[in-house]
Amino acid sequence: RKKITLNTLRTLYKKGEPITVMTAHDFPSGHLADYAGMEIVLVGDSLAMVALGMDDTSEVLVEEMLLHCRSVSRAAKTAFTVGDLPMGSYEIAPEQALESAIRFIKEGRVQSVKLEGGAEMAPTVKKITSAGIPVLGHIGLTPQRQNSLGGFRVQGKTALGAIKVLEDALAIQEAGAFAIVIEAVPQEVAALVTRKLFIPTIGIGAGNGCSGQVLVQIDMTGNFPPGRFLPKFVKKYGDVWGESLKAIEAYRDETKSRAYPAPEHTYPISKEELAELER
Ligand code: KIV
Ligand code: NA
Repeated sequence: RKKITLNTLRTLYKKGEPITVMTAHDFPSGHLADYAGMEIVLVGDSLAMVALGMDDTSEVLVEEMLLHCRSVSRAAKTAFTVGDLPMGSYEIAPEQALESAIRFIKEGRVQSVKLEGGAEMAPTVKKITSAGIPVLGHIGLTPQRQNSLGGFRVQGKTALGAIKVLEDALAIQEAGAFAIVIEAVPQEVAALVTRKLFIPTIGIGAGNGCSGQVLVQIDMTGNFPPGRFLPKFVKKYGDVWGESLKAIEAYRDETKSRAYPAPEHTYPISKEELAELER
């Protein structure tokens, strides 16, 4: 399969074929997403929590994101790659954002960047896209702004809120974004926004009326211990945690009982050499 470009994505969008997007944070998770045929692999700043154990995304640094981007980029032979600009790396001025975006391309080796925000970020999106770096927008629930949003809350639930989501989408589209993530917005609102745009919408918690979907990989593969909170929109398609746990527990038990390593896991020495050794 050939490397996916913006042209490939445009063709899918024109055909009305949903675009599949998955997060990844290292070589193995990037390899899996690519191998499974994801059209876009996003190195989301959710890796702050799922890969680094931080409480939220506000802590993760550009340097840390770049290391993860490089690892995922090496794995993405086919998928189009997006790196998430972390909080603090793009809000000060469009010039700051462009500098960060250039680092993501040169050092992170991704093909594009994502940034959160609506109409107020339009000049920033324009600055980055004018330099030839594709931008994926992100509106609705923007986790980097959780403190000012009053937590992780559904956006666009009122008529006024829905109009804001639409206006944000139009402004980001106008600024040159190639697609827009819409997070935690009622299905009808996301579908309406999708109909009004001429670029793809990528939904997460936004229903099936979007032009594509994105999920956090460790959420959807079930690679987390029991009892962890999951947002309503996540569908757990697997039990990677359970499978890995079974394997590691079996290894522990077989090591304790000396069932492992068995003869087939060991290196031979010839009888002659052994006799020599024991003399
Ligand atoms: O950081 C992330 O994983 C994201 C996606 C969920 C859109 O921003
Ligand atoms: Na993110």
